[in-house]
Amino acid sequence: MPSSTIEDIETFISQFTLRSKTSSDWIQKVEENFPLFIADHAANERKAAATAMDFVVRYPNHLSLVETAARIAHEEIGHFRQVHELMMKEGHPLLPDEKDVYVRHLLSHVRTTPDERFLDRLLVCSLIEVRGIERFEILANQYSRQPWRAFYRKLYKSEKGHGFAFYHEATKIFPLHQVHHRMNELLDHEARACDQTPITGKFH
Ligand SMILES: [Fe+2]
Ligand SMILES: [Fe+2]
Repeated sequence: MPSSTIEDIETFISQFTLRSKTSSDWIQKVEENFPLFIADHAANERKAAATAMDFVVRYPNHLSLVETAARIAHEEIGHFRQVHELMMKEGHPLLPDEKDVYVRHLLSHVRTTPDERFLDRLLVCSLIEVRGIERFEILANQYSRQPWRAFYRKLYKSEKGHGFAFYHEATKIFPLHQVHHRMNELLDHEARACDQTPITGKFH
């Protein structure tokens, strides 16, 4: 994990705790709708890679961000391939994209001036990763079947690094007080996005 330590990541996670817990019904919905859930997870890994590469396209002069975002994109493609390999072993197909209510809700809070948009997009990506960490931990501990439990334990560690990395890049570009202030506002929006997204067994 270049340029960050486990301590940095743990400090970040404890500093920006999610303000809404995933409902205890969620894991049950995953169990009941696993093919839908896992196809959605594969789609999210693919979209995470594309979003990371979008930072490279839009902000080519921010060299540290370009380096970090390209690494994350590479790791997300790796996650997609791992999910897809397990899906193929169990005969689960990829499914057509559906609108992501949770992500749309979060993106609706991204502001419109170029600097504000840049900061908000970095922090929204960070928060999506932090929610992923929470859910992967639930799956690693509570999902009924191996090898999925072991798989989610591995992913959980990787996504922890991503959550910190987007936030950390934001702190290199914007004043720390501004990043923290906005992160606190977006944490409230994230909690509402999570609470208002119906549980369908999907990842979000
Ligand atoms: Fe991922
Ligand atoms: Fe990630």
